[in-house]
Amino acid sequence: MRVVVLTGAGISAESGVRTFRDAGGLWEGHDVEDVATPEGFTRDPELVHRFYDARRRALTLVGPNPAHRALAALEEALGEELLVVTQNVDDLHERAGSRRVVHMHGELRRARCEACGARPAWDADLLDAPPCPACGRARLRPDVVWFGEVPYELDRIHAAVTGCDLFVAVGTSGAVYPAAGYVALAASSGARTLELNLEPSEVSRYFDEVRTGPAARLVPQLVAELAPA
Ligand code: APR
Repeated sequence: MRVVVLTGAGISAESGVRTFRDAGGLWEGHDVEDVATPEGFTRDPELVHRFYDARRRALTLVGPNPAHRALAALEEALGEELLVVTQNVDDLHERAGSRRVVHMHGELRRARCEACGARPAWDADLLDAPPCPACGRARLRPDVVWFGEVPYELDRIHAAVTGCDLFVAVGTSGAVYPAAGYVALAASSGARTLELNLEPSEVSRYFDEVRTGPAARLVPQLVAELAPA
């Protein structure tokens, strides 16, 4: 059975990573225009670097939760029939053991050179960063896809979503496209669709089934159904 699991900030919430639109979310304390758009970066690169440097450093204080670990176990069972498509820029899926992960919005632990396009792994601060290791120019930015920019690997994601038998969305509000449109794409391609979320999302009505509760409980429960030990 071919499975695509789309994850959002909600899957990392129980690891202590802030979501965006819940109470106390990241977008409460920051203006998206200032920290998550190319224009904001041009206007005030130091503000943007401080925002992502703080989130990158915070990653060292958190770890994967049972939801991430369950998806890694599902990959052990399904192999290439499972693809995790994440909107998250944290590395918790990888630290739980998942290897087949597409970061459509980029990764905090990677930089991107605006001069040569290199995307080196990056764990340090980018404020006052050294020049690009590939081209030597001082043009490094966070490798995070901002509003108005094109997400990564859209063709690969489209092929996986249209070719899957089961599409599962975990912990995403359905507020941002193209990710929010994948449930309709999967359904139109004949897949069964399932949403796991703490509360209804903006796209719950498009799913065949919606299970309400914390990801750390619902994802292991789903994995036990899909791949009985
Ligand atoms: N278990 C399951 N779901 C949860 C949990 C939890 N413990 N905690 C929160 N959620 C759900 C919320 O109900 C909400 O639907 O996670 C979702 C978080 O929504 P957002 O904060 O909007 O995060 P996300 O959907 O990932 O945002 C999508 O928007 O700002 C951009 O690029 C950013 O990737 C992000 C995109």
